[in-house]
Amino acid sequence: MKKSLLVLVALTVVGAVVAQAAEPTIIGVPKCVMCHKVKTGDQAKIWTESAHAGAFATLKGAAAIAIAKEKGLGNPWEEAACLKCHTTKAFLGAALEAATKWVPEEGVGCEACHGAGSEYKSKAVMEDHAAAVAAGMKMGGKETCVKCHNAESPTFKAFDYDKMWALIKHPVPEAAAK
Ligand code: HEC
Ligand code: HEC
Ligand code: HEC
Ligand code: HEC
Repeated sequence: MKKSLLVLVALTVVGAVVAQAAEPTIIGVPKCVMCHKVKTGDQAKIWTESAHAGAFATLKGAAAIAIAKEKGLGNPWEEAACLKCHTTKAFLGAALEAATKWVPEEGVGCEACHGAGSEYKSKAVMEDHAAAVAAGMKMGGKETCVKCHNAESPTFKAFDYDKMWALIKHPVPEAAAK
């Protein structure tokens, strides 16, 4: 195929994706990790073992209840003032797909940093970086982290991006990447 034709085809594909990507919805961690398994870096395991996976559960703990009480709030797991950084949905404000298995218990899921996934979750889109970005995928780095890791967090001390990223990084091994 001629290069110009390839570009045209690519633009058409991206255009189609944009057209239907108006309002991406959250699909939940279980759907992402159906694909992101051992061979491609096991993002599933790394995330499951990270503090983010327990962020909602934390709101049911004694420390959270004490903080909420001190602030004159009710149950922290029901307070928007806490949920906004401790669950994907409250953070993104994105809609949920009707059939989704998304539950607040997933805490800070993949989509908090990568964007709501309904429009980019297919293999064909995922393998094409430009198409995935056009469909709402984000590669949220430091500027995303500090939307939650900041002084508005009642337990905030400091945020060192390099140190914190090292604790949760989840690269695709080179052999798995094309
Ligand atoms: C149908 C399988 C499938 C599903 C479902 C899926 N992915 Fe992917 N994803 C892939 C493949 C294949 C790639 C490209 C190869 C790779 O990097 O592993 C990829 C790549 C990525 C990348 C890197 C993109 C880039 O351009 O560098 C991110 C980030 C990502 N996926 C996040 C997610 C998130 C978040 C979800 C859930 C909302 C999700 N994926 C759901 C298969 C999938
Ligand atoms: C939607 C809000 C949100 C975003 C975005 C976010 N985090 Fe977090 N992060 C949290 C919450 C909440 C906790 C505490 C979870 C718990 O312990 O229950 C946390 C905990 C952590 C921890 C564990 C800290 C420890 O002392 O054990 C690390 C590491 C971390 N985040 C790194 C990052 C990095 C790096 C980014 C950006 C790439 C990021 N986070 C983005 C909300 C967020
Ligand atoms: C601006 C975002 C943000 C808000 C709002 C927020 N948190 Fe957090 N929370 C975080 C982050 C990020 C962490 C982990 C790092 C830190 O302590 O700042 C965390 C950690 C915690 C921890 C400690 C977890 C541990 O094991 O160390 C508790 C408890 C907690 N939050 C309770 C609450 C309660 C209760 C509320 C509501 C009153 C709340 N948070 C509101 C972002 C937030
Ligand atoms: C706290 C934020 C955060 C969460 C949660 C998160 N990621 Fe990521 N992810 C990132 C950042 C930041 C990068 C690196 C972006 C870059 O390289 O520019 C990344 C990179 C990736 C990549 C590409 C890795 C590579 O080497 O190319 C994949 C695939 C991916 N994430 C999948 C997932 C999946 C699946 C989940 C949930 C199980 C998840 N991520 C949860 C922030 C996050």
